[in-house]
Amino acid sequence: MKKNPLIPFALIAVFGIGLIFLLGFIGLGNMDEMANAGEEAPETAAASPEELYQGKCSSCHGADLSGGAGPALKGTELSVEEIENVVTNGKGIMPPNLVSDPAQLEELATWLTEQK
Ligand code: HEC
Repeated sequence: MKKNPLIPFALIAVFGIGLIFLLGFIGLGNMDEMANAGEEAPETAAASPEELYQGKCSSCHGADLSGGAGPALKGTELSVEEIENVVTNGKGIMPPNLVSDPAQLEELATWLTEQK
C-alpha cells in the first residue's frame, strides 16, 4: 500500500489551525483580565480596612502601624472623625484625599481606632 504524501501536510495544517484557535481563546481570556486589572487595582468595594491600610498607609505608617515616615498609629488616641479629617485633608507631608469613598474611609478610621 502506498502512503498518501499529503497526509503529513494535512496533519500539520490541522494542528496549526487548532493552535490558532487555542491561542486566540487564550488571548481573549487575557484581554478580559487586562481590561479588569485597571479597575480593580485602586479601591474596590470589597477591600477590607486592613487591605486599604496596607495599600495606602503602610508605606509611611509601617505595616504593623508602628510608624516610619509618619507617626505610629497603633493605639492612636484620635477619634474616628479626627482620623477621617487627617486622611481627607492631609497633615504636614501626608497627602490629602487618600481615601475618596466616605464609607471606606469610615471603616478604615474605625478599624484604626481598634488597633491596640
Ligand atoms: C506619604 C506618607 C504618608 C502616607 C501615605 C500616609 N500618611 Fe498619615 N501621616 C504622615 C505624616 C508624615 C504624618 C504626620 C504629619 C504631622 O503631624 O505633621 C501623618 C499623620 C497621620 C495621622 C495623625 C497622627 C497623629 O497622631 O496626629 C493619621 C491619623 C494618619 N496619618 C493616618 C493615615 C492613614 C489612615 C493613611 C492611609 C489612608 C495615611 N496616614 C497615609 C505620612 C503619611
